Amino acid sequence: MTTVDTRAVDTRAVDTRAVHAGRDDLAALGVHVPPIDLSTTNPLSSVEHGGDAYETLATGGPLPPGSSAVYQRLWNPTVARFETALADLEGTAEAVAFASGMAALTATLLAATRDGSRHVVAVRPLYGGTDHVLATGLLGTEVTWAPPHEVAAAVRADTALVIVETPANPTLDLVDIAVLARAAGDVPLLVDNTVATPVLQRPARHGAALVLHSATKSIGGHGDVLAGVVACDTEWATRLRQVRALTGAVLHPLGGYLLHRGLQTLPVRVRAQQAGAEKLAAWLTGHPAVARVHHPSLHDPAGLVGRQMSGPGSLLAFEVRGGAPAACAVADACRLITHAVSLGGVDTLIQHPASLTHRPVQGEAKPAAGLLRLSVGLEDPEDLRADLEQALDRVAC
Ligand SMILES: Cc1ncc(COP(=O)(O)O)c(C=O)c1O
Repeated sequence: MTTVDTRAVDTRAVDTRAVHAGRDDLAALGVHVPPIDLSTTNPLSSVEHGGDAYETLATGGPLPPGSSAVYQRLWNPTVARFETALADLEGTAEAVAFASGMAALTATLLAATRDGSRHVVAVRPLYGGTDHVLATGLLGTEVTWAPPHEVAAAVRADTALVIVETPANPTLDLVDIAVLARAAGDVPLLVDNTVATPVLQRPARHGAALVLHSATKSIGGHGDVLAGVVACDTEWATRLRQVRALTGAVLHPLGGYLLHRGLQTLPVRVRAQQAGAEKLAAWLTGHPAVARVHHPSLHDPAGLVGRQMSGPGSLLAFEVRGGAPAACAVADACRLITHAVSLGGVDTLIQHPASLTHRPVQGEAKPAAGLLRLSVGLEDPEDLRADLEQALDRVAC
């Protein structure tokens, strides 16, 4: 397998593209930052032109040049700019943004199963909400859970999608995307890239047809936007836009603006947060109250860091000796670190997945009772270490 050099994807480095993507026309408009278009409806030059645009947009097409956007549920230029930028970073033809990561997953499941094939093969662990939607069959899908090496055998004639998260939330397990794409064969592979971000990993390069993000996390980065996005080819983008236009889980333009701005600092934030996570993972490994630390810097049996991912990322998890009571006591005792769900933001968050983000997950897939998930932010790692130390001291035997 060839080595992935994230700088070689485009002639310009990811840092440069993060700053400039989706902004090519700004100088001609005489502005330096993207305009925010809040219009819910748009003037029509004639019934005929308006009707033609409506037809194109409601069937998932892009905005015809010079045409009215008709209605915000069909198209919004501020959101479209963010989509252009995200597609540039992921190395896909297009991207489609949604009101949340779960709305993005819902639209993808609806689009993938619209021809009647309802079977999905999914690799656990997955984010608890994703697991819950698939396990309940709420959207009419039937799931087969399979470890990566059993995916090829689990694929059936009516399989519409293979789903994987790598690194996985919350255990940070890594899966070889290229191997999984081969196992999926003709079935499209969806990779949830929320944890890695396009700064560290571009799944489309390894064979993923769909790359999903909870943009609520690192892309927004500041805990103030709920959003999702799927990067993909034009055929999938058309299907997804049609579902979005008809079902209405659109991203608000202010969210689109903030995410587009968030992309500009994404590479810098991801690397700084990752450096802190590496230090904390190493320190936690030596702490007597900690039984096991999960971070790709420590556990990467297939050698995917440096090959599939350019770095181990800013999310880690650790198992506290003493199970759930000890883990919950540590989360409650943190002072600088905020006890809250979500991840990827500038401030460090800790939470107990078995009680919260992965509460609905059943059986063997349920996170370990003593597991805490730590999303490392931009604070000085020494201050974070001191906070964890005082919290862990309370449960140390
Ligand atoms: C890996 C992953 N995927 C998807 C989601 C769902 O995204 P959202 O909360 O934006 O709906 C989350 C949320 O935590 C997540 O962590």
